[in-house]
Amino acid sequence: MPPTTSRTPQLSQRAEQARWEYALSEPARRMIAEGALDGKTSRSMCRWLAADRELASRVLRWCNTPLFNLSTPFSDLAEAIQTLGSADIARLTFLAEVRRRYLQCKPADGFDPRRLWSHSVGVGAVSAMIARTCGVDDPGSVMLVGTLHDIGVAVTATLNPWETAEVFAEVDRLSTIQEVEFDRNGWSHAPLGAAVLKHWELPDAAQSVALRHHDDLSGQSLDTLDPVLCCVVISNYLCCRIGRAIAKECTLPTPADIVFQRLDISSDMLMLIWHQLHETLGNADPLAK
Ligand SMILES: [Fe+2]
Ligand SMILES: [Fe+2]
Repeated sequence: MPPTTSRTPQLSQRAEQARWEYALSEPARRMIAEGALDGKTSRSMCRWLAADRELASRVLRWCNTPLFNLSTPFSDLAEAIQTLGSADIARLTFLAEVRRRYLQCKPADGFDPRRLWSHSVGVGAVSAMIARTCGVDDPGSVMLVGTLHDIGVAVTATLNPWETAEVFAEVDRLSTIQEVEFDRNGWSHAPLGAAVLKHWELPDAAQSVALRHHDDLSGQSLDTLDPVLCCVVISNYLCCRIGRAIAKECTLPTPADIVFQRLDISSDMLMLIWHQLHETLGNADPLAK
């Protein structure tokens, strides 16, 4: 049942609601606070994985996908940590926890939580592929940041599902999700997602990409434009182009020329990325389910 509060909620109210009602679990918080996502230590992560067998077996399965391992399968997580490094395993552990949240969202007409998760992981994997192709630092971190870009959608779908149902009922080929959200509330999932990632104390790059992934970047200068943001913006666009979008009828504007220039993407390189797209999404498929 919809609440009796105003139909135009303030962003600050929703961010405050999310701070308490969409808080991270204790093990996830401890792992982030220790710097595990940057590979500083794996102590808390290992304790968490030892206590949560379902999470651990999912992370091991993900480590053995072609996205991370083209050789003999890892027999356990200790072996995976030794080969891939603890930062990548911590990022996968965190994403496995985020997946649980996404899939717990209430479905609605036009909104399917599985589609949201599949889109998110696809954008993360393709962002990392673009980063690798273009020589952007730390593709593993780009994958994490890319997968989290639409977390604002999951937050509203969890805490205010009737609003998600109303928004998705209006989304069509001419009206994007962020446009419908903006017309309705005066803000979109982008700043809400950034606020949640800030509460969760995720790296600045993750907050900034969540905040800016729908911005018109055409007026930016090459010097100040974040290459990680460019990877995610292009990936988000390409995934939507081939139907790996949050909504069935979902369109996004073509990224501004400067986004491609920032990554030195020529037309030949764009063709290469386009050819790698399906293989990357295929390799990421086990994570998308
Ligand atoms: Fe978005
Ligand atoms: Fe997206």
